Amino acid sequence: MTPEQSVPAGIDVSKPNVARVYDALLGGKDNFAADREFIAMAMAQTTPDAPLAVRANRAFLRRVVRFLVGQAGIDQLLDIGSGLPTQGNVSEVAQEVNPRAKVVYVDNDPVVCLHSKALLVDSTTTDIITGDIRRPEEILRDPTVRGLIDFGRPVGLLLLAILHHIADSEDPAGIAAVLRDAMPSGSYLAISSFRMPGPELPEIRERTIRVEKVLAENLGTGRWREDEEILRWFGDWELLDPGLVPLAEWRPFVQGPARKNDTYYTLSGGVARKP
Ligand SMILES: C[S@@+](CC[C@H](N)C(=O)[O-])C[C@H]1O[C@@H](n2cnc3c(N)ncnc32)[C@H](O)[C@@H]1O
Repeated sequence: MTPEQSVPAGIDVSKPNVARVYDALLGGKDNFAADREFIAMAMAQTTPDAPLAVRANRAFLRRVVRFLVGQAGIDQLLDIGSGLPTQGNVSEVAQEVNPRAKVVYVDNDPVVCLHSKALLVDSTTTDIITGDIRRPEEILRDPTVRGLIDFGRPVGLLLLAILHHIADSEDPAGIAAVLRDAMPSGSYLAISSFRMPGPELPEIRERTIRVEKVLAENLGTGRWREDEEILRWFGDWELLDPGLVPLAEWRPFVQGPARKNDTYYTLSGGVARKP
């Protein structure tokens, strides 16, 4: 059976899709010809940096989760826009540090949910729900979420490479505020996001504007935002050192100068704590 033949009914694999394009860029198997063709076209027309960007994001994810479950002592994580279960999942990284850590994944992509559910069938510490971040209240009252996450104790909320898939008209700041309000004191919020470089980097800025256009036309999503907009998503929570920075600069495991490629300037991340 070809991958195309094993697709659940109602899923259109003739068009590229965010979760599967991301999986293909990571070298995963849960993607289709349309996803791979889109990547080849986008890389040829814009920047060949895309695989580096997803790797930088996954490396940030690993460092953040190790920090939250290790140093910060967080033992329950809500990961919204979790993506296809690929190597180095949030639950894998978290449970390496604390095998009892609880993780709930949330994604609105039916393929992500189907594959994750199959992998997690025997797990008592990790689960996935189908949910849309644009309706955060539904996620917060979902029985699976409330069964695994105790909102009376600090939570690690992960919004990694997800808010840039929310259009301005869908109010990402409002969504982040609803989620922040539901978290108790001592909770942490980690964000990574596409970032629009400033006018001091005209070539990279121009390339980034072209990439944004290609994504909008082919995936229907993907916004590169200014630092101020991304910072607003943390609300009044205390931004931990080193702040909102290029992903490679957020508490790297290995010290030394980071490579200043497009990814360096176009993806930012940070972690904040609720006072
Ligand atoms: C780029 S992937 C990021 C995966 C993972 N968080 C990471 O950082 O490696 C974005 C994920 O967000 C999901 N997504 C997009 N829009 C969403 C929405 N409105 N609600 C929930 N998930 C969404 C996509 O299906 C995809 O799996």
